[in-house]
Amino acid sequence: MFENGRWVFGVGVTALAITVASAAFGLTRAIHLDQGTPVSLLTVEHDSRESALIALGELAFKSDFLLEASPLRTLGTNMTCDTCHPDGGARDIVFFEGLSDKPGNLDVTNRAISLIEDGVYNPLNVPSVRGAKHTAPFGRDGRFESVEDFTLFAIANEFAGGIPSDLVIESLVAFQENLPFPDNPLIDLSGRLSDAAPAAAKRGEEIFNRPFPNDPNMTCGTCHVASDYFLDHKTHDVGSGRRGRAGKEFETPTLRETVFTPPYFHDGQHDSLAEVVDYFDTYFDLGLTDDERADLTSYLEVVGGGTLQEPAANAPIHPATALTLLDLSLTDDDWLLTRMLVTQLSTELDRWRGAPEAPPEATIDAWIALMRRIEAQTKVQDFAAARATLQDLEIAIAGTAGG
Ligand code: HEC
Ligand code: HEC
Repeated sequence: MFENGRWVFGVGVTALAITVASAAFGLTRAIHLDQGTPVSLLTVEHDSRESALIALGELAFKSDFLLEASPLRTLGTNMTCDTCHPDGGARDIVFFEGLSDKPGNLDVTNRAISLIEDGVYNPLNVPSVRGAKHTAPFGRDGRFESVEDFTLFAIANEFAGGIPSDLVIESLVAFQENLPFPDNPLIDLSGRLSDAAPAAAKRGEEIFNRPFPNDPNMTCGTCHVASDYFLDHKTHDVGSGRRGRAGKEFETPTLRETVFTPPYFHDGQHDSLAEVVDYFDTYFDLGLTDDERADLTSYLEVVGGGTLQEPAANAPIHPATALTLLDLSLTDDDWLLTRMLVTQLSTELDRWRGAPEAPPEATIDAWIALMRRIEAQTKVQDFAAARATLQDLEIAIAGTAGG
């Protein structure tokens, strides 16, 4: 049900015999699903396969058909990648009764939702996948080399959703690797603060690059390399392991986007950037003054801030985009993408009805009927027939909408 601007699911995970979790916190909260911006395929024109792939990838990322076979569905009927990673980001809003200790966290190694059960109640903080092109390795412990490896793992193993086709994976990877970090005019390409940054943040930048008193070869920037999106692409033990992960190494996270992604660390153990600064001050024995800690926090807030892209409102509809995307999805030997696509395209065409630029109702009806036929033909693996119907659709769209 939709409540207060959020999807609220009252499905109790307790029914799945999760007992480890119950002692740690009260099982009283409902599941909150809040997702990113709705998919809008027909408002975009594609001039390359890559651009069309990214669109299909966003669709798959946000379509509840993708994880349909996964036991995740016991948590909510419309679970998508986007449920936990809204628009590819991460926000402290997802809370799964029985699997989360705080909003933004989830025990992914639990047999209730996964093929992997480690016997420990150890929720992980959902990471953002923004900037994925630059942030290898993947997984909180950095055990995956590429977005592709992680994505395959996420669908097939982590959430037991079956083996997706190559095109599904390729498009999901294209979408994720195309997600930008927030636009941040206060840092330049080498990750240095620009002149416009506030004075406190500039003082914080100096502290960030100052050698540690007990280890003059090390600064914060040794691991968070400013010129490389604040990454060293390595894992380290910074004393953060708890709950069966003591002494474990975790991936150095980027410091871009952190303003949008509390809580922090692999298990969300810190609620604010100030708390992280306090932690490292103690852990590395830095002896920072109150003012220095505040300056370092300001620096992190500037580096981790910026603005996220907003979708254009009321953009015009390009019906021919349906042809480009269907053409690409039919190169797959799988029904899934075509099914997602036809469902989404018919929804968008339905919404278009009656608008000033829209063709007559009967024309839209005819287009949707042809799309449904394509879907039915791919469902029974008759791809040749589906291609022929796509040609009919092409003629129909060219005839009425001028291409
Ligand atoms: C129920 C919540 C949830 C859903 C749904 C979900 N993820 Fe995740 N995702 C997580 C968590 C938690 C992690 C951290 C897991 C780990 O480190 O092992 C993660 C990690 C990732 C990472 C690694 C990011 C990094 O920088 O390390 C990628 C990529 C990713 N997910 C992609 C996907 C894709 C693609 C889907 C849809 C098929 C998906 N996720 C669905 C919760 C979710
Ligand atoms: C030895 C390498 C190393 C050094 C030095 C280091 N960090 Fe980190 N940092 C890490 C690792 C690894 C994590 C992730 C820990 C985890 O997930 O449990 C992290 C996490 C963070 C986070 C949380 C980001 C998030 O999205 O969860 C912030 C903020 C941060 N570091 C800032 C700093 C600052 C400021 C300093 C200097 C005082 C510093 N780090 C020094 C390796 C390092």
